[in-house]
Formats: sequence, C-alpha cells, structure tokens
Amino acid sequence: MLDIGCGPGFFTIDMAQMVGKSGRVIASDVQEGMLEKLKHKIEGTELADRIQLHKSEKTRIRLSEPVDFVLAFYVVHEIPNKLDFFSELASIMQPGGQILFVEPPFHVSKSAFAETVRTAQEAGFQSEKGPKVLFSKAVILKK
Ligand SMILES: C[S@@+](CC[C@H](N)C(=O)[O-])C[C@H]1O[C@@H](n2cnc3c(N)ncnc32)[C@H](O)[C@@H]1O
Repeated sequence: MLDIGCGPGFFTIDMAQMVGKSGRVIASDVQEGMLEKLKHKIEGTELADRIQLHKSEKTRIRLSEPVDFVLAFYVVHEIPNKLDFFSELASIMQPGGQILFVEPPFHVSKSAFAETVRTAQEAGFQSEKGPKVLFSKAVILKK
C-alpha cells in the first residue's frame, strides 16, 4: 500500500495495522518534516518494520516497487501536474489496483473534483462510487 501525501501519518498508522505483520506501507510526502514526525511516532514499535518512509518530489513520486492500493487523502489538489501524477501511479499499479481519492469540501469544488477524476481516467483509471467520507469528496479509481 502507498499513502501518498501522508503528512504526519494519521492514516499510515491505521493502514500499517490493517496490512498485518507481513504487509508493507510506503508513506510518502514532499516534506521531510512530515516524514520525521511519522518516524518519531513509530520508532520502537512493531509498525516501524511495516512502514517505509519515502521522500517524493513535487512533480515525481519516484517509486518503482509495485503497489496494490493507494490512499490519496487531501493531497491531489496540491499537485501541479495531475496527469503526470496519475500516470506515474498507473505505472506502478497492477490491473485491479485501487486508489481511494479523497478531497476536502471547500477549496476543491465539485467541478474541480470532476475534472481531476477525468484526468485520472485519461491516465488509465476507471472511477467507481467511493465510500462516504464525512464532508469530503471521495471516489475509487481502479486500474
Ligand atoms: C493536507 S495534508 C494531508 C495529509 C494526510 N494525507 C492527511 O489527510 O492527514 C497534504 C500533504 O500532502 C503533501 N504533498 C503535497 N504535494 C505533494 C506531492 N506532490 N507529493 C507528495 N506529497 C505531497 C504535503 O506536504 C502535506 O503533508
């Protein structure tokens, strides 16, 4: 699994608990400080072995290992080139892999969200009804 734009790892920790002992979660962010915060939270716990911290660049994630599930929570509106972003994700995901794509309610309009979903489709994803996420816009993108 990949938590892209993980911030201080609020969801990464739940994801690492979900994957169990043999699973792996890559926590990726452009801000070193965020990765440091997450590092301090998991240091000395069993989750440290399951979570790989990864510094991405503003315009490239730069991951080559395959991932089956991606959480993109409140991050995509901050990414300058969304087609490049989704294309890069498509290149590391197997067919059937899913992205849970969630955006915040106020500064991402309904039309901006729909436009980003169209961009993800252009990159090779199909959109499916997402779960209800309180106050947010959410969709599942399937490779
Ligand atoms: C609003 S925070 C959300 C954090 C986390 N996903 C959450 O919901 O708790 C957005 C995060 O995305 C990161 N970010 C912004 N652009 C990014 C990019 N191009 N690649 C990876 N992370 C990025 C920011 O540094 C920030 O930590």
